[in-house]
Amino acid sequence: MAKIAILGYGTVGGGVYDIFNNSSFLKKTGEEIEVAKILDIRDFPDHPQKELFTKDFNDIVNDAEISVVAETMGGLHPAYEFTKSLLEAGKSVTTSNKELVATYGPELLTLAAQKGVRYMFEASVGGGIPVIRPIASCLQANDIERIAGILNGTTNFILSEMIDKGSEFEDALADAQQRGYAERNPAADIEGHDACRKIAILSSMATGYFVDYSNIPTEGICNVSLNDVKYAEKLGSAIKLIGYSQQMPDGTLYACVAPMLVKKSIPLSGVCDVFNAVMVRGNYLGDAMFYGRGAGKEATASAVCADVIDIVKNGAAKCPILWETDKIKMMAPEEKEWSYFVRTSAGKEQINEMFGDVELIDDVVSGEVGFVTSLIKEKDFVQAVNKLGGTYIKVLEA
Ligand code: HSE
Repeated sequence: MAKIAILGYGTVGGGVYDIFNNSSFLKKTGEEIEVAKILDIRDFPDHPQKELFTKDFNDIVNDAEISVVAETMGGLHPAYEFTKSLLEAGKSVTTSNKELVATYGPELLTLAAQKGVRYMFEASVGGGIPVIRPIASCLQANDIERIAGILNGTTNFILSEMIDKGSEFEDALADAQQRGYAERNPAADIEGHDACRKIAILSSMATGYFVDYSNIPTEGICNVSLNDVKYAEKLGSAIKLIGYSQQMPDGTLYACVAPMLVKKSIPLSGVCDVFNAVMVRGNYLGDAMFYGRGAGKEATASAVCADVIDIVKNGAAKCPILWETDKIKMMAPEEKEWSYFVRTSAGKEQINEMFGDVELIDDVVSGEVGFVTSLIKEKDFVQAVNKLGGTYIKVLEA
């Protein structure tokens, strides 16, 4: 019998409990897995196993029978202190906490390796989608050249509602919150911070170096309007919030999070609702896409549980340090070339003078036009568009 504990009985923690309570993994692992304790500051007097709950972390860290702990609290503190104590006490930890992994991943991975236990975080990116493990194992023969992903279910749900139903942003957000997709503070979703942490984790996995999320320029979807969505449709594209990173030939890494126009010929454009997808480009493999439910109780909990099952089945001995504590050198974002979709009320002559002979769309909003530029360095583009006046969105390259 493997005894485990859960830290945080919220949406994901509740899902982890349900999975282990409702399913037997005896055949898969050779032993039953039992939730022995649950830490939460709240009371659950009506829970069928209310005796499992404790408010005292010491009850878990000092319980010699508990070998694996699922940390589903979210946030940095006290999740960081608890995780560190658990690893130091020789317990493996699995987590869905992207903020913690993106911030303290290298330190916690190193500590786990020193202690001969594991720190696993499949659920931290893409909810239930297997993407961390494939990068860590199946794609090892490749240099990962580029990652482009829809990494936030809430914003993808909101954008899908805007595209498919013409919903206003606020209504779609309220719906996402009601369904349990959104973070407690929706700013983390709609301002792109959640996707930023996830692309930082994936980029760290891909490069083997620490990619500090605070160095990733991040823009959310708060400024995307229904008219932008209509223009995108005219251009045979959909607007998606994309977490993007690319290894540059000089060894630096470029990364950003931004709403982008994605051509319908690129599979990411068809990823709708709460679904996430990560396109990984390997130098031998080419593009591979990992697709599935990126948020929600059961999907995310299933990935946390899979890590627990892996540890129970295979033991904690093999604990690779997946990336170094050294930070990778980032490319100056203003040097990166993109195509841009621009909306402006400027005249054709001025547009042509600055951006060449671009094709103008003039039947979406009266008094303005939309067009797509050719590839141009961000700094040159920003300078030009500031003179022209207007709004813009990056275009994802194929
Ligand atoms: N709020 C996150 C999302 C949850 O919407 O994707 C999963 O990380």
